[in-house]
This record gives sequence, structure tokens and C-alpha cells, in this order.
Amino acid sequence: MERSDQASTDAAGGDWARFFATWARHPLKMGAVAPSSRAYCSMMVDNATIGLDGPILELGPGLGVVTRTLLEKGVAPERITSIEYDRDFARILKERFPKVNVICGDGFDLDKTLGARAGEKFAAILFAIPILNFPQERRQALFCDYFSRLMPGGNLTELSYAWSSPVKPVPGVFSVRGSPIVWANIPPARVWIFSQDPAQSPSPRA
Ligand SMILES: C[S@@+](CC[C@H](N)C(=O)[O-])C[C@H]1O[C@@H](n2cnc3c(N)ncnc32)[C@H](O)[C@@H]1O
Repeated sequence: MERSDQASTDAAGGDWARFFATWARHPLKMGAVAPSSRAYCSMMVDNATIGLDGPILELGPGLGVVTRTLLEKGVAPERITSIEYDRDFARILKERFPKVNVICGDGFDLDKTLGARAGEKFAAILFAIPILNFPQERRQALFCDYFSRLMPGGNLTELSYAWSSPVKPVPGVFSVRGSPIVWANIPPARVWIFSQDPAQSPSPRA
């Protein structure tokens, strides 16, 4: 059994201090002063295409609040690969979720980080890495790369406190919509839901 009960206890107490201390050292890499609330994590997972049969990729898990929500909603831990850049966080995640495939690495360089599994297609990608400091073109290029790693029908969901979509749609690759605002989060925020945009069919000939 996964230790989600333990993770839940930790999230209520020491995780806030640990998260805040890491944010104070690396504000750009963390992008948030506190872990996402249960309501925000639920909004993320409820909008992710986890019902598709296939592996799930989580990018920027932090101390595992979204990971725990995935498990609570019935996702088998063996389906989840969680990529976390911070070494201490990755170590804690491995202890908390021993059956989840936790990788300490860069979620922006999946070919390197996934290694032999780089060609794998995912049912859903759950993304929580700060990207607002990147130019829009780089954000779109990254998301195009993520979409090339999704199974047909799979989507990408993003936690972001931005009030408009942090990544603009790329016609023929992905579209985007926002969830309702989750007020029970610090700060209140939406989940951004990116869906595959079918290639535009050529205009019919006369
Ligand atoms: C805003 S926190 C989100 C944590 C958690 N998902 C939550 O909702 O509370 C962003 C996380 O992304 C991680 N991160 C930052 N850059 C990363 C990268 N290039 N690859 C993987 N993780 C990264 C940070 O260490 C941090 O844990």
C-alpha cells in the first residue's frame, strides 16, 4: 500500500514549512509559496484524461499533493511517473510513494530524463512546473513536445496562478480552456486544460 495517509499528515504540517523554505531559496523554480490545496489538486486530476488506459506523467510534483490525489482517485501507482527537479523533494517522494516511478530530473528535457522510456506515449500529462519566466514561443514549443508524447485523446492539465492561459493554443496541435476558479487555494486559481486539436482539414475544393 502507498503511504498516502502519511503523506496527508505531512502535507498538513511540515510540508508547508519545507515548501516555503525551498521557495525562499529558489523562487523561480518553485513558483508557489505553498503546496496546492486538496480542492485544486482534485480539479487537476478530475480534468486529466486518467481514464485512458496508459501511463501517466506528472511534471513538478513537489511534495506529492497531486500524486496523492491521483492515488486516492484510484490510479495504480505503477502507472505514474513523477519527475521532480529538487533532490530533497524527489527523495521524500520516493519514500512516500515507493511504487510510483519517481525520477529526479528535468521535466523540460524529457528525452534525457526518461532515457530508454523516452518514446513512451502517455494517457495524461499533469504539469506544475513554473514557466511564466519563459517567452511564449518557448512555452508553446515545450507543450508541442509534450503533445507528441500523448496517446490519442490524452490531454495535458496545468496548475498555474495566471489569470489567462500561460500557453497560447497552437492550432492543429492543442487548444486550451480554463476550469472554474478554485477559491479554496492560496491564491485562488484555475486549472488550464489543454486538449489535442485535430489537424485542420484542407478547405474543400470547388
Ligand atoms: C509550483 S511547485 C508545484 C508542486 C506541487 N505539484 C503542488 O501543486 O503543490 C513546482 C515544482 O516544480 C519543480 N520543478 C521546477 N523546475 C522543474 C523542472 N525543470 N523539472 C521538474 N520539476 C521542476 C519544483 O521543484 C517544484 O517542486
